[in-house]
Amino acid sequence: MEVHERIDGFRGSLDACRADGLVVGFVPTMGFLHDGHGSLIRRAAAECGAVAVSIFVNPLQFAANEDLAAYPRDLESDLALCAEMGATHVLVPSVDEMYPQPVLTTVTVAEVSERMEGAMRPTHFAGVATVVAKLFSMVGACRAYFGEKDFQQLAVVRRMASDLSMPVEVVGCPTIREPDGLAMSSRNVYLSPDERQTALVLHRALDAGVAAVLAGADHARGVEAVMAEVFATEPDAAVDYADVVDAATLAPLEGLVPGTELRLIVAARVGAPRLLDNAGVVVPPR
Ligand code: PAF
Repeated sequence: MEVHERIDGFRGSLDACRADGLVVGFVPTMGFLHDGHGSLIRRAAAECGAVAVSIFVNPLQFAANEDLAAYPRDLESDLALCAEMGATHVLVPSVDEMYPQPVLTTVTVAEVSERMEGAMRPTHFAGVATVVAKLFSMVGACRAYFGEKDFQQLAVVRRMASDLSMPVEVVGCPTIREPDGLAMSSRNVYLSPDERQTALVLHRALDAGVAAVLAGADHARGVEAVMAEVFATEPDAAVDYADVVDAATLAPLEGLVPGTELRLIVAARVGAPRLLDNAGVVVPPR
């Protein structure tokens, strides 16, 4: 496995892989890797001849009041997991290597970025889209693997790649969960044992919302009310949103039309960390 601190070497090595006829898979990360990242790298390794991983905590996607300095890091264990899961190339750039001059060019994806996480963290998705656009330009033509856990991020990246005609196929991969249902996240490390129990409310709320849709709920507000009731049983979880949206466009919905693919998306603060989760369901025939 090649580990690159410099962008030029990383780019050149992946160009050489493509010249040899290999399809390049790419998994962008902010490090502190867990089995969720591991599953993305493993899938890329199963489907592609070369597998690039980036490990970069991107300052551009953190607002001034957020946890950039405290974001967990463990490069040694990250590199071990990359090697074990089948990565062939890893980029670990410094902030200066990624942003050698003040950033005057940013990427914003309208509409898809604006609600939910975008409303809570107004500068976040421009930071994500900008760094992912830079990483895609360094990696070149590839299949890029993103977890569905950050479902809105996946939609933003997909739309950006399509709008800007990037030579990248964006592949969404299912959320990896702990045995009790908690979605894996680098931020789970901040949860105390009690908060870890409280955090299960996100998964319970989604399960209740999906059950309501399958039982025939015909309006998005009704399903959102079911999720809110579940959150109300855990006063230590501060809900930011629990929304029902169209899975393809992330547009908010009113009446639920049979056959429509929905995403139920929730975010809540439990202790210090904000946790995100979501679930998909198709509105059944009536
Ligand atoms: O999901 C993440 O870890 C980050 O948002 C990403 C896509 C690596 C961009 O910094």
